[in-house]
Amino acid sequence: MRFQKVVLTGGCGRLGRYVAQRLRPHCDLTLLDRVPAEEPGLVRADITDYEALKRIFAGQEAVVHLAAIPNPRTAPADVTFRINVQGSWAVLQAAEDCGVRRVVVASSDAVLGLHYNPPGWGPRYLPIDEDHPQRPIDFYSLSKECTEAICRSYAARGRLQVLALRPTHIVFPPELPEIEARGADVQNYHLWTYIAPEDVAEGFACALQVAEAPYAPYFLTAADGLNTRPTLELLRERYGGLPPLRDPGWFAANPCAAILDARRARDRLGFAARVSWHDMVAARDAARTDA
Ligand SMILES: NC(=O)c1ccc[n+]([C@@H]2O[C@H](COP(=O)([O-])OP(=O)(O)OC[C@H]3O[C@@H](n4cnc5c(N)ncnc54)[C@H](O)[C@@H]3O)[C@@H](O)[C@H]2O)c1
Repeated sequence: MRFQKVVLTGGCGRLGRYVAQRLRPHCDLTLLDRVPAEEPGLVRADITDYEALKRIFAGQEAVVHLAAIPNPRTAPADVTFRINVQGSWAVLQAAEDCGVRRVVVASSDAVLGLHYNPPGWGPRYLPIDEDHPQRPIDFYSLSKECTEAICRSYAARGRLQVLALRPTHIVFPPELPEIEARGADVQNYHLWTYIAPEDVAEGFACALQVAEAPYAPYFLTAADGLNTRPTLELLRERYGGLPPLRDPGWFAANPCAAILDARRARDRLGFAARVSWHDMVAARDAARTDA
């Protein structure tokens, strides 16, 4: 691994456990989280505590920053905004103060403003790349757009490298029972995009490993959607029409292709999602049979 001493914020969370498992064999990993847990290498701290972060980041080479309130349903607006935005600022500032060389930050495809917004706010074009306009109006998505602004600013200062990864909806095991229902739902709030947690963990490992790291946001998504009906058919039904197709071959090659285009992560980070939802369903069904 390019960096030997790595801190993982949010290391006790749902995604954090997968990222820790992926990174731990390859580096000296410190987990930072506010929850009381018995985890190897865990340091308890709050990411809004700038002084504590400086103590923890001293001598570290890289930080993977996942700690956040991960949706608009879990905590009040003010708490979510403070932890996600103030916390990300404190992580970046403390990392810069301590001479950390690279910080990889969990943003979200929610920055697009497609998930929690009014029904008419559809994609402006398809497939959606990282240059697509961002129109978040809910406090969680806005907190992630602000987080990306902070990332851009610290990268531009030039003292540390910053990458922002935008995973789409991560399907954790408790969600597997309803995966087919989500795919059939025309109003699916993630527009059917998904990714397995193992693949997101791989994306963070790629972002730590890549040699050149100029600032950019990167979508992390599976290549297809959760839908079994063609993606364009569902979009037409949902919005009453379709936006322009930036790449007409996209849905010709796979009618159930994801609306998000993750080719930037493929080309620059060497990332490719490997787990499809069909694999997840097969594993789920095999476990039911065994039980
Ligand atoms: N779950 C998804 O589908 C998804 C999709 C895109 C992006 N993300 C992003 O990925 C990251 C991880 O999400 P997750 O689903 O694992 O969430 P999670 O809630 O399971 O994990 C977040 C972790 O951060 C910790 N944390 C929260 N506030 C903290 C604070 N003030 N100080 C220290 N630790 C704190 C929590 O204790 C928890 O262990 C988040 O940044 C989230 O926005 C998640």
